[in-house]
Amino acid sequence: MDYSDLKAMAKEIERHLEERPLLGIVLGSGLSYLKDYLVEDDRIDFHNIQGHPLCTNKSHKGCYRLGTTHGIPSIVVDGRLHFYEGYSARECTIPERILQILGVKFLILTNAVGGVTSGPGTVLVTKDQIACLVPSPLYGENIEELGPRFPDMSEVYDPALSKTILEKAKAEHLSCKEGVFMQFPGPQFETKAEVEMAKRLGADSVGMSTGIEAIASRHGGIRNIGLSLVTNWACGIKEGKITDEEVLVVAKSSERTMRRVFEIALEAIENDQ
Ligand code: HPA
Repeated sequence: MDYSDLKAMAKEIERHLEERPLLGIVLGSGLSYLKDYLVEDDRIDFHNIQGHPLCTNKSHKGCYRLGTTHGIPSIVVDGRLHFYEGYSARECTIPERILQILGVKFLILTNAVGGVTSGPGTVLVTKDQIACLVPSPLYGENIEELGPRFPDMSEVYDPALSKTILEKAKAEHLSCKEGVFMQFPGPQFETKAEVEMAKRLGADSVGMSTGIEAIASRHGGIRNIGLSLVTNWACGIKEGKITDEEVLVVAKSSERTMRRVFEIALEAIENDQ
């Protein structure tokens, strides 16, 4: 996978675009209702883009939805690529690279997470991340057109936008806090000891995606916003087992809070331009 391959994939999408997209949105598990905010003009399936990895996960569709969100030209990535599906970290971040090449400046990464310090129903605005348990998406030869060999990661998630979102959410008394996210490789949920480790390292939540995507897009100069919905207590924090079904049920039942925080994030981006 080199720059010309990525450019060819981006070109496939570009043919369907009416204007240069400014915002990218990645939908997390059970959060597909967030695509309602997009006024969709067109859609391109992953399998119609030559060389594009496909989603192996049933709950992830695998397409790019093109349109406008709150009037902002946007692309929704409906179908995330996970490291546990067998793709390399670099392959998992192909969607972020395509968005970068198309000119996207802001990226909202959403996901469902296990809560280490906050319980189900809480939305966490990502302050920072620990992603060093998963290989870097920047391993291998650096693609200079995409970003520098040794990129700074002091602001993986945009501090100004995150602050605005948190303040507004707090003013509206939403169940919303800031937190440090830690990516695990998955697909198994973490053990109690792993969650204890995450807690001692300063993580507020754990999940199986997102960290590497944020690294790739930040490498490409994109301003990230991370919105995580806590769907369960991480293993061992409370009694009981974690199931995939429980994650999807809570993602649905917390829809109102998640939607409102997402709207606040869109407003923050609108006002930043
Ligand atoms: N761990 C990892 N990923 C998750 C979890 C979890 O507890 N909940 C939702 N996604």
